Amino acid sequence: MANHAGNYTPGNGFERWLDERLPIVRFSKEHLMDFPTPKNLNYWWTFGGILAFMLVVQIVTGIILVMHYTPNVDLAFASVQHIQRDVNYGRIIQGTHAVGASMFFAAVYIHIFRGLYYGSYKSPREVLWMLGVIIFILMMATAFMGYVLPWGQMSFWGATVITGIFSALPIIGEPIQILLLGGFSVANPTLNRFFSLHYLLPFIIAAVVVLHIWALHVPGNNNPAGVSVKDNRDTLPFHPYFTMKDLFAIIVFMIPFAWFVFFAPDILGHPDNYIPGNPQVTPEHIVPEWYLLPFYAMLRAIDFNVLFINSKLGGVIVMGGSLLILFVLPWLDRSKVRSGSFRPLFKPFYWLFVLNFIALAYLGAQPAEGVYVVIAKLCTAYYFAYFLIILPLLSRIETPAPLPASISESVLGSDKKAKA
Ligand code: HEM
Repeated sequence: MANHAGNYTPGNGFERWLDERLPIVRFSKEHLMDFPTPKNLNYWWTFGGILAFMLVVQIVTGIILVMHYTPNVDLAFASVQHIQRDVNYGRIIQGTHAVGASMFFAAVYIHIFRGLYYGSYKSPREVLWMLGVIIFILMMATAFMGYVLPWGQMSFWGATVITGIFSALPIIGEPIQILLLGGFSVANPTLNRFFSLHYLLPFIIAAVVVLHIWALHVPGNNNPAGVSVKDNRDTLPFHPYFTMKDLFAIIVFMIPFAWFVFFAPDILGHPDNYIPGNPQVTPEHIVPEWYLLPFYAMLRAIDFNVLFINSKLGGVIVMGGSLLILFVLPWLDRSKVRSGSFRPLFKPFYWLFVLNFIALAYLGAQPAEGVYVVIAKLCTAYYFAYFLIILPLLSRIETPAPLPASISESVLGSDKKAKA
């Protein structure tokens, strides 16, 4: 890896004193300012910074909301109304947190699909990728529990369906379900547990993000060409080049974010969640938030028994498997070439995978009947085939396009005369 780092000299006596005891300024300079970053990174690489920004937004707005929210089944719905109507700037703070969850997921999906296209999960970044998958699963758990807190109809029934998933697991399923619920059905103890965990998990996510960035800074960034950094000519210091680029991207990202918050803060939520939760009335369709729909579609696609595995357990295995398979992805795709840009056969299958994922999201919002279930089965099959059959096969049969000799060459073009 090229090296712009390691050139910190304490400016005065105090800095030298601190540097000998806690080299925090040296660390920040090496990792936040001088860190050698490939100079060909495109805007898809700004989403990591956007995600870090979103995590802070969610934590800060969440802490303010907690000052006014009441985690009790008789008061929770009313306390959210109170925040929206009576608390100073409450509507904006609550709207930012609710819309923020959607924007956070939009960003994380872009970040993940960027990684899938450019092969960022491949050696030597497997641990970085696996930490990302852990973050993604924690984000889903956090968002699900957060959605229960306003105690609307979808909160209550969503919690009932999702906690019911655990009961499908043999032996351990029911004890886990009872532990999660704090009883035998979704009720006040459930709300208290979810509130406590919804507050805790973002800090665990923040800790895993620290490990994620640590694991990034050992091998350094991948890049759109997918070829490794050779020398100083391939990189630029992180500051000011990438701090400014990330800042610009964050500001652009805030435009649609602000539009939703100010003009349509409720549009991404389900109308039924503006009705207080009622255990006596089941909503016509129980649907999770949009960002969980692809996985929900896979859960429901399994409506048949296989040997001793009934359809419910089958759905849980498929949904769990759809996430767990991401952990082993670095060992399924053995192609030596990282970037999809140089893989002619990979590209159509990748884009089909993207479309397939969007189709799964659509299907997750439809009733689980008729043609929808048939298509959901096909889409689920393609989701797994992509990882288990297509990627391993492509790594064997594909002839990649010629790679640039270096990152500099991929930016400037090859200088044949200089080479000659
Ligand atoms: C709170 C959530 C997350 C935060 C704050 C975060 C942060 C970051 C940052 C700052 C970078 C470096 C800049 C960039 O490449 O965009 C990065 C890179 C990366 N992230 Fe994440 N990340 C998050 C979630 C995830 C998830 C869910 C995955 C995958 C499942 C993931 C996989 C990766 C990979 C593979 C890289 C290396 C990219 C490369 O150099 O090509 N991250 N992340």
